[in-house]
Amino acid sequence: MAGLSLSNVRKSFGQTAIIHGVDLHIADGEFVVFVGPSGCGKSTLLRMIAGLESVSNGTIAIGGRDVTHLDPSGRGVAMVFQSYALYPHMSVRDNIGFGLRMNGVPRAEVDRKVAAAATALHLTELLDRRPKQLSGGQRQRVAIGRAIVRQPDVFLFDEPLSNLDAELRVQMRLEIARLHAELAATMIYVTHDQVEAMTLADKIVVLRAGSVEQAGTPLSLYDDPENLFVAGFIGSPRMNFLRAECGTDGMIRLPDHRNVIVPLTLAAAPQPGQDLLLGVRPEHFAPDEAVSLNLTVDLVEHLGGASYAYIGSGTAHPLTIEMRDARKVGRGTVLETSFDPTRAFLFDARTGDRLR
Ligand SMILES: Nc1ncnc2c1ncn2[C@@H]1O[C@H](COP(=O)(O)OP(=O)(O)O)[C@@H](O)[C@H]1O
Ligand SMILES: [Mg+2]
Repeated sequence: MAGLSLSNVRKSFGQTAIIHGVDLHIADGEFVVFVGPSGCGKSTLLRMIAGLESVSNGTIAIGGRDVTHLDPSGRGVAMVFQSYALYPHMSVRDNIGFGLRMNGVPRAEVDRKVAAAATALHLTELLDRRPKQLSGGQRQRVAIGRAIVRQPDVFLFDEPLSNLDAELRVQMRLEIARLHAELAATMIYVTHDQVEAMTLADKIVVLRAGSVEQAGTPLSLYDDPENLFVAGFIGSPRMNFLRAECGTDGMIRLPDHRNVIVPLTLAAAPQPGQDLLLGVRPEHFAPDEAVSLNLTVDLVEHLGGASYAYIGSGTAHPLTIEMRDARKVGRGTVLETSFDPTRAFLFDARTGDRLR
């Protein structure tokens, strides 16, 4: 078991800087999720921790030991990839035990560890099968089993569920959460899926273009995003952003919605003329709140329990409103809805900074 520290970690490929100085502390036993859009540097950062990619600058310590220039095999980490990378001609048993056997671990011990991992992953019945006789979810469990038997201090997962269908992803997500609880190991998990991040993480690290935008517990990012990017990335469906203006009277108004006033308590009033965006989550609209809007619905999705109304689709500021018991709402309905301004967030539209 071990915690991790990244200090000013940078990476360039040739002249191109990809990771711009990441500082991060991960506690022993913590489940940390790196989340961000494709190409933001999640895999690169994970591969540097694994030792599969060199570090251009800064240091990485695992369990208090500087591993920045250490071989992957000496770091006490095990990595699980999106592509399962199983040996097709070997049984599940041999796939899981392969690394141990290569390291000269005695046969009896290999068998014992493989059996224990198979139990934890519900693979016992499948030990004699070949990978091609397994479903995608079962293959990914074998890949995880291969990591478990090595008893690493830190597990590294790079989008392990991306090749699975939606239902299986939910199931495997629960399995990974259970495994983390049972093994109490430090885990770092990379995904572009914010729902996976919200449900698995003790701590989420939101990355964008090689920099950490914000790190914190899932609910702290949801409740208190520091900027427009995190606000838009965390939460599903995505947060709505309404154009806002500050008048010379210091009041915030919504010019696209009959200049309705949004009473906000701000430490400092924005400049008149400053481009602002007001963020309101789809689930924070309700019938009788302080700020009322009349919205003409383009399209409704009725999911049974909840319905989503879409407004202004194709415009720069489309809206999604979550409703309950909204069976009568349809295309063309003028929806009278409202939100509680204390649940809204104000941003500088140009810099993306949160204004408090
Ligand atoms: N070996 C490499 N050589 C050059 N550029 C790379 C290499 N690996 C990754 N990159 C670039 O680094 C950026 C981050 O990539 P990656 O870490 O794979 O992103 P993510 O996993 O978040 O999708 C991308 O722009 C990618 O093209
Ligand atoms: Mg990646």
